[in-house]
Amino acid sequence: MAYQWTGSIGVPHAVAVLSTTRGCGATLLTAAAGLIVDDAVGRVGQTVVLMDADTDGGGLTELTRYWNATSEAGVDGLIGFAEDPIELANRSVHGYLRHVHTGDPRRQDMAVFPLGPGDKPGEHLPTNGTLQETVGAAVERLMDLQGCLIVDCGVVRTPVTLEVCRQVQHIVLVGRAGPTSDLETAELMAWLTERGLGEKVLGRVCNDPNGTRHGAAEVTEVTPALMRLPYDRGGAATIALGRLPGHGSPLVQALCEQMLARWPDVLNDGAMGAR
Ligand SMILES: Nc1ncnc2c1ncn2[C@@H]1O[C@H](COP(=O)(O)OP(=O)(O)OP(=O)(O)O)[C@@H](O)[C@H]1O
Ligand SMILES: [Mg+2]
Repeated sequence: MAYQWTGSIGVPHAVAVLSTTRGCGATLLTAAAGLIVDDAVGRVGQTVVLMDADTDGGGLTELTRYWNATSEAGVDGLIGFAEDPIELANRSVHGYLRHVHTGDPRRQDMAVFPLGPGDKPGEHLPTNGTLQETVGAAVERLMDLQGCLIVDCGVVRTPVTLEVCRQVQHIVLVGRAGPTSDLETAELMAWLTERGLGEKVLGRVCNDPNGTRHGAAEVTEVTPALMRLPYDRGGAATIALGRLPGHGSPLVQALCEQMLARWPDVLNDGAMGAR
């Protein structure tokens, strides 16, 4: 659908997406943002990698299961990377990426780094205390690819999530509108700030995953949202197929406009904030 971009190739950057409660749309935001970046700058060389670090939910692994994507490895993603016999310091992520085929021969660079293959990949993650270190190494290697890395952390608040947050440059929070979500956002923000990660937070994306937002709820918000996303069932369904919805999608339209203005480095020149 070719959105406008400003001339230079997207600057490499890594963003962690953390949600305040289950079902806010962290996974959908990760996938939609990735598809937008890929659509805008994929063909001029920007690599886009979506990583699932939601070790409890595995929502991105689940969502992308039906995307047209292939991997060289029998066991790909984080589990394959974790099981690699090469010592962690020298281990490569390349063989464990799942390459997304968008149907456009000019765009070959989008990849997913899922938890792993199979129905319940989260169950097969290492439980011997090495997960944090392994995830840290994976994020580091994925950042070495010099593209746009978006990591779905979901609601998980473990040392694994902290390790992701320490590695990436930016953190985006996802919540809903209203006072309850404000409170949850404040709690999540405090959790990050206490751990020295508050400054990486770009802001909160206020989503409406069930189409229940009321105008009045927005007025009660204590902190203004970084972005506001409308309910768009058709758009969400197209994204679930691994395709970027067209201009008619309110979700993608809103996300694209707000990413251009408020999500640093994306599609553009590394500028932070509105231009
Ligand atoms: N703006 C939206 N419009 C329409 N549907 C949406 C929107 N945001 C999210 N959804 C839908 O709501 C459901 C939950 O979204 P998603 O899985 O992205 O949330 P999540 O925060 O990742 O949840 P979990 O905590 O379970 O991982 C999905 O079916 C998704 O398609
Ligand atoms: Mg999810």
